[in-house]
Amino acid sequence: METEKNYHDYVIKEGKFIGDFETMYRECKDPWTQSTQPNNYSRLSGILHMRNFGINSLVECGCGLGYYAEWVYRETGIVPKSIDISETAIERANALFPHLDFKVGDITNSIENYKSYDCILLSEIIWYILPDLDQLFKTLKEHFSGKYLMVNQVFYKGTQKYGNDYFTSMEEMIKYFPFDCVAKVEATQKTDTTIETSVLFQI
Ligand SMILES: C[S@@+](CC[C@H](N)C(=O)[O-])C[C@H]1O[C@@H](n2cnc3c(N)ncnc32)[C@H](O)[C@@H]1O
Repeated sequence: METEKNYHDYVIKEGKFIGDFETMYRECKDPWTQSTQPNNYSRLSGILHMRNFGINSLVECGCGLGYYAEWVYRETGIVPKSIDISETAIERANALFPHLDFKVGDITNSIENYKSYDCILLSEIIWYILPDLDQLFKTLKEHFSGKYLMVNQVFYKGTQKYGNDYFTSMEEMIKYFPFDCVAKVEATQKTDTTIETSVLFQI
């Protein structure tokens, strides 16, 4: 019987960024168990931020197979513009959720195309774009002033190996981002190895 490949090997291996997302989606059925949408504290908090701040349109950067876009749609009626770097992920997302709006794209060089949207959502993608963050901040300042940036991100309880030189917790991440934090949620259960966060910045 064929065994499922370990998706981690295509993403970050032994503390080094690999970032071969296209091969990963060809080889692995359900990386990050996206179909079961773990981290529901941060995902639901993100949806609450959308409601509380009157967000009516959204670009999800790094949407993967589209399960969170579908959840957002079901809860808010918003059809997120959903972008992923992997063609295979987008093909599969389109097949799963044909009523939503998916597109192949690298958000590190195309974000300015989406300046008509109320909010940019980065859901579980920060570790993969760390070297591009400063340029992303510049582009957001230039084209998205007054709009929102939402970051849903899991942190690890003392076991993080990658990205430590940038930030290791929600509060450190908030300090790193040059925008006004207007809402934040941090949640964990006693037995969890992770801390879920959802932060809303005004640009
Ligand atoms: C952990 S998954 C998150 C999926 C989804 N956002 C969620 O929360 O369930 C990270 C996704 O980011 C995508 N990705 C990584 N770098 C990217 C980039 N520069 N531009 C667009 N997508 C990217 C990967 O292909 C992957 O699907």
